[in-house]
Amino acid sequence: MFSTRLTIDPRFAIGDVSRRLFGSFVEHLGRCVYDGLYEPGHELADENGFRRDVVDLVKELGVSTVRYPGGNFVSGFRWEDSVGPREQRPRRLDLAWHSTETNQVGLHEFAQWLELVGSELMLAVNLGTRGTAEALDLLEYANIRGGSTLSDQRVANGRTEPFNVRMWCLGNEMDGPWQLGHSSADAYGTLASQTAKALRQLDPDVELVVCGSSGASMPTFGEWERVVLGHTYDDVDYISCHAYYQERDGDTAGFLASAVDMDRFIESVVATADHVGAARKSSKRIAISFDEWNVWYMTRFEDEERITGLDNWPVAPRLLEDTYSVLDAVVVGNLLISLLKHADRVTSASLAQLVNVIAPIMTEPGGPAWRQTTFFPFATTSRLAQGRALDVRLESPTYETSAYGQVPLVDAVATHDASGGTTSVFLVNRSLDDEAEVVVDVAALGGVRVASAQSLYDEDLHAANTLDDQERVSLRPTPTCELAGGRLRLTLPPVSWTAVELDTVAL
Ligand code: AHR
Repeated sequence: MFSTRLTIDPRFAIGDVSRRLFGSFVEHLGRCVYDGLYEPGHELADENGFRRDVVDLVKELGVSTVRYPGGNFVSGFRWEDSVGPREQRPRRLDLAWHSTETNQVGLHEFAQWLELVGSELMLAVNLGTRGTAEALDLLEYANIRGGSTLSDQRVANGRTEPFNVRMWCLGNEMDGPWQLGHSSADAYGTLASQTAKALRQLDPDVELVVCGSSGASMPTFGEWERVVLGHTYDDVDYISCHAYYQERDGDTAGFLASAVDMDRFIESVVATADHVGAARKSSKRIAISFDEWNVWYMTRFEDEERITGLDNWPVAPRLLEDTYSVLDAVVVGNLLISLLKHADRVTSASLAQLVNVIAPIMTEPGGPAWRQTTFFPFATTSRLAQGRALDVRLESPTYETSAYGQVPLVDAVATHDASGGTTSVFLVNRSLDDEAEVVVDVAALGGVRVASAQSLYDEDLHAANTLDDQERVSLRPTPTCELAGGRLRLTLPPVSWTAVELDTVAL
């Protein structure tokens, strides 16, 4: 057992919690769309082929925004293929995932599905094999009411009202050599600036995300951001960050500290963006769209799953279908804490991805849909993190990691919603062996009571929910949660994630 102290005081505000922090990502990849959220033959499918059980789970997950349709997929995608009469839509080779894209789900169908789940569309345009003209065409098709060829085409295709898409990603991971159309920061920055200006000329209200690095370990990281923002600073609202984590070589202690890497990544990009702004004497601040983040056992994909062969282009193959453990879910909960700790600058984020592909929701064709372990911290944080994020002035002992040096054993953040009278605190205990005894000073909140206290932990760190055992893991009551004299006392089991919800009461 070791001790940790923290303080919740509404005066320690970091920034407002944007609902868009709880976004996700649907790519035309593997079984995310086909045999995932869309399975016309399934007994629970609605008249449009969307699985109702998946819709219910997505709603429960509390997803605000959904980035679509990729990912690597978008860099070879022709959006025109995915609209109009379905029987006339072409089957295309998707080079990113070596699959066949049938285009049976496209912009109209996906927007329809988003209405069912109550989420906002965030569209990515292809700046890999295409450019400014095609991005402009898509914006005209999506956001102009009518009276032009493309907007009238949308109306003829069954959608009278514009899609009114606000968030637009200017390509995907253009720094990555695997990306179709991969280019230098200078070339991409020039294209992104030109495209951004053109899109705004058409619709001044769009919010634009320029591609940052596809990971902080990329050789061009930092310099990529500086050069790209040098071209686009006045044209865009966000720069993207992408990060995936996995346990490597049995280094569980290091894996548990993944959020330290995310903290440093965000802070480096903020520093770089602010440097570009300062050099321009600009008062504008660029926000971060952390639009791909998760645990992903990427080495499994590289070693076992990659599809090859000139005559082998499967439809909706099983790809990137990671099964998540309790350990993975604790890391995901901690990554959410990291995002909240940077709520002043990270105002949009997307858990990659949503269904079947590195996803919190799994489905079986003709069978059930279920929650992975990672579902629980996401759903709970999305529900409870309201109002403003608060720095908690954490005092925690540290431990040594080979990847990140000395890191705190406990990590935490709080949120406070003055109008709703609720405060929440989110914590992780990264210790492999010891319980954490945490004392939270809540005196500054006045009268409060504990509304709920739930944790994710298990004696078996590798316990998971699977097709055969769909409810093996779920949230459990926090072992100790006592409130007295303005102090909240918690016991956090080793390798655990916890959320405590406090309600204001009249004294
Ligand atoms: O989410 C899976 C892939 O990871 C995305 O297509 C790509 O953008 C990233 O490299």
